[in-house]
Amino acid sequence: MNTHVNPPARIGEPLSRVDGRLKVTGHARYAAEHPVADLLYGWVVSSSIAKGRITAIHEDAARAVAGVVEIITHKNRPDLAKADSAYQEQVAPPGKPFRALYDDEVQYSLQPVALVVAQDLETARYAASLIKVDYEAAKHNTDFRIAQGERFMPRRKRAAYQPPKNRGDVDTAFAEAAHQIAGTYHLATHVHNPMEMHATTVVWEGDERITVYDKTQGSQNTQTYLANVFGFKKENIRVLNPFVGGAFGSGLRPQYQAYLATMAAKMLERSVRLVMTRPQMFSHVHRPEALQAVSLATDSQGHLTGMRTEATTATSRFENYMETVVNWGLMAYACPNAEADYTIAPVDSYTPGDMRAPGAATGMTLFEIAMDEMAYEANVDPLEFRLINYSEKDAMHDTPYTSKALKEAYAEGAAKFGWDSRSMAPRSMRDGSELVGWGVATGMWDAMFQKTSARARLSANGDLLLETAASDIGTGTYTILAQIASDTLGIPVEQISVKIGDSDLPMSPIEGGSWTAASAGAAVEATCQSLGKKLFEAAQKVKNSPLADAKIDDVRFDYGRLLSKTDPDKSVSYGEAMAAAGEVSIEAEETVSSGISGMISQMRKSRNTHSAVFAEVKVDEELGVVRVTRVVCAVAAGRIINPKTARSQILGGVVMGIGMGLHEETFVDHRLGRIMNHDLAEYHVPANADIHDIEVIFVDEPDPEVTPMGVKGVGEIGIVGTAAAVANAIFHATGKRLRDLPITIDKIL
Ligand code: MOS
Repeated sequence: MNTHVNPPARIGEPLSRVDGRLKVTGHARYAAEHPVADLLYGWVVSSSIAKGRITAIHEDAARAVAGVVEIITHKNRPDLAKADSAYQEQVAPPGKPFRALYDDEVQYSLQPVALVVAQDLETARYAASLIKVDYEAAKHNTDFRIAQGERFMPRRKRAAYQPPKNRGDVDTAFAEAAHQIAGTYHLATHVHNPMEMHATTVVWEGDERITVYDKTQGSQNTQTYLANVFGFKKENIRVLNPFVGGAFGSGLRPQYQAYLATMAAKMLERSVRLVMTRPQMFSHVHRPEALQAVSLATDSQGHLTGMRTEATTATSRFENYMETVVNWGLMAYACPNAEADYTIAPVDSYTPGDMRAPGAATGMTLFEIAMDEMAYEANVDPLEFRLINYSEKDAMHDTPYTSKALKEAYAEGAAKFGWDSRSMAPRSMRDGSELVGWGVATGMWDAMFQKTSARARLSANGDLLLETAASDIGTGTYTILAQIASDTLGIPVEQISVKIGDSDLPMSPIEGGSWTAASAGAAVEATCQSLGKKLFEAAQKVKNSPLADAKIDDVRFDYGRLLSKTDPDKSVSYGEAMAAAGEVSIEAEETVSSGISGMISQMRKSRNTHSAVFAEVKVDEELGVVRVTRVVCAVAAGRIINPKTARSQILGGVVMGIGMGLHEETFVDHRLGRIMNHDLAEYHVPANADIHDIEVIFVDEPDPEVTPMGVKGVGEIGIVGTAAAVANAIFHATGKRLRDLPITIDKIL
């Protein structure tokens, strides 16, 4: 063994972020931070009405400001693609995609109506304030409860949507039930609010070529979109997103700042930067408001005999945004009679979008509050209630899971939390002046896998360059890819450079759905294995090679050497192997995909992550203040590549779940159709003082079948169910069943 080199990282080790130093020293550059010569700055003028037409735009005063280069409106914009299909991208819902500055129509409040481009940001902002727009307002509705009257199920569905499947005879089950409950649950509109706002810097390279730094979860998605919309040749657009300051789904679709910055750059043949303001972000992509009715029935022992779930979520008037909302409870629990229905209802807003565990965060969370109500009605401990109704298989599709270690998650979570010492009755636990409550909920998310490519190049000095167009939205992609390569090829992490976030690199889909670790991870592993094979062939060409008679399975790759597994004295260094082959570097490129056989097996088996969330709240009876003093989140998510970055994902999800439970909601002035609390002072998210003890457990869940590396992904599961555990704990503390999230002080008092 060569003791001069650092040891390779192993899969399963808590490796610290390889990009950590760049981030904390400010060297990691985000979309609006890349220095560009002769840069122009944009500022968007937003509509003051929620619906109607623009009748006039008075821009003379703004044009007179020194430093203003151009004012772009629907009247002078450059030509754009005419077909709807040109605006489609990887996750666009069916409908008529929004096109900023396209015509005089206004479809939502704060829609862009003009773009000021100036020599500097301050000038652009000032000039924008001088623009006056006349409108002919039309009647709008932004009230989701009024929109219920228009709810519908579209004929053309979103690709990601999975319809529910009913079973049994639900009416009879309810007629014969020993116990039953029915409730309607509500979730407020949430806004993603990543720290980095939507931002794009377009560098005009001349000759119809642009380089685009975009805040996106998928550089190649933005590249295709901009090429189609503006008629650029795809190879003339390079999109980069080396660092993304959080996204949570808000960067899945190319957003209007990328479109407008590109429009200005094309029109002016100049480099342009545009950043959305926080209020503009609030009027843009969001998690849809939801209403969900749940009825449950049990026999006298507390076995579920009937379930019915009906949900409606909000969409815009121009796109039919749908989520998979009502299926989760039907999949999770053994219950012979179950049915579900799902509809969407249009309001005059921008189209909602995927936000961390879209559909499950809403539907499973609200369902799990109903499960708690049912447990109390049947007088069964809420954890026991979930265990006696546990389903080993996916009860809705009637298919086995590739793995489901949820029972272990309940057990390990309960043990860590101390659930055994809970008393059943509400208001039965106290700590001084505070009421104490303990709640539990189940979480579920999908374990997905997407076609992804990667490339690797090993230099004779042992340095490895790893490339794929995948993104790191703060999730730890850089780190786990380095770790997988390090383990596979036995090269220390210090000698590995990971290049991601660039549309020029090998194909990778948007970073979403918690699939990147499984997909980009498998692509990197396959690429490194293929590179290893080439190294082995080279090693056999070494004169008097000690591995001449070996087979590839007889060697391992470690500390920069190929070693015989049976005789470690027989080894060839990577440098010797390359020299023998006459190469200064060795390259490999591989693509992984589930293929046809994978798609068939996906229909035969269900692939999901699960979690058991336990929460403790302390409620001040006089003030109604709730503190979430403890959360234990036990997760069954297959193989964990890096327990440190994976834990961070669950911590973030749990914090966001606490926000769902207690804080996050937009308030709309329906007369104006505008969100009133459109900043982080008025829209509450958990702050440090709101967060106490959070324990994350990953239960053992070996699953060689789910994806090539047995990885399921953990970006989203942490949020699912957490708000229900909090709501259920509040019931246990106070005896008050609150069905409207977030549970704010006014509802508790
Ligand atoms: Mo996620 S909501 O697919 O970024």
